[in-house]
Amino acid sequence: MSPMKKKSFVSVADLSKEDILRLMKSAESFEKNPNRKILDGKICATLFFEPSTRTRLSFETAINRLGGKVIGFSDAATTSSSKGETLKDTIKMVSNYADLIIMRHYLEGAARYASEVTDVPVINAGDGANQHPSQTMLDLYSVYKTQGKLNNLAITMAGDLKYGRTVHSLIVGMSHFKPAFNFIAPEELRLPDIYKQFMEEKGLHYREYTDFSEDVINQSDILYMTRVQRERFTDLMEYEKVKNIYILKNNMLRNSKENLRILHPLPRVNEIAYDVDDNFKAYYFEQARNGVFARQAVICDVLGTN
Ligand code: CP
Repeated sequence: MSPMKKKSFVSVADLSKEDILRLMKSAESFEKNPNRKILDGKICATLFFEPSTRTRLSFETAINRLGGKVIGFSDAATTSSSKGETLKDTIKMVSNYADLIIMRHYLEGAARYASEVTDVPVINAGDGANQHPSQTMLDLYSVYKTQGKLNNLAITMAGDLKYGRTVHSLIVGMSHFKPAFNFIAPEELRLPDIYKQFMEEKGLHYREYTDFSEDVINQSDILYMTRVQRERFTDLMEYEKVKNIYILKNNMLRNSKENLRILHPLPRVNEIAYDVDDNFKAYYFEQARNGVFARQAVICDVLGTN
């Protein structure tokens, strides 16, 4: 018998529609019963070369609730990478200690590379402006929970569509479910062409706007707001020009659909006014909570323990 092939979780593009639906069902089951000792004896490494609140803490919560143990770092400056150790050597070292590596890195493609230099499964917790696939699982789970379905929804995404890796991953994840997309971004932060080509190849309908108008909000089932990603700009003067380009205010929701839900991967800066938080259509804090269950599903899928 050949040894079982290692499974990593690097890009949403590696997942079929059936994979996604299976992960949604698994997340639903973990939400009903999150405390199970199925990672007993497993050590999981969380390697965060970039800052994080939700992703790292929800992964670590997920692991703790499943009875696993966590090692890792949240600040690469405290590790030997600050002495010049390569990513390859860091991954090979951590592979000596852990059964699973969860990594966030500032370089696009870093998670794929890491998965190729180790026999330990790797979960991508965000690689530069490229992908954030575990975020997509909680985003899809949030869409499913709030809409009761994933098919045939009008999804509007607003803000930084150029650097927003959660946007890129969500487009790929939603592509199985016949969405109609609206993209609202200033010229400087428009969705990269590769995602438009992807949608065209899939026969998906999308429209692009530069105005953040109520007309577009009013057609939407999901409004996915995003932060302008200051850390990706090489010229901070360019960031200053666009940082407050769109601000969602409560009065902009007055004629929105009853089922509209507002999602945001968070952190928010200025793009959602605080008066929106009390509107029942604001779902971003529950969305972040869903991250624990979606990540329990991803971890167990990768380790083959569910
Ligand atoms: N959504 C998200 O990735 O948040 P953090 O950067 O806080 O992990």
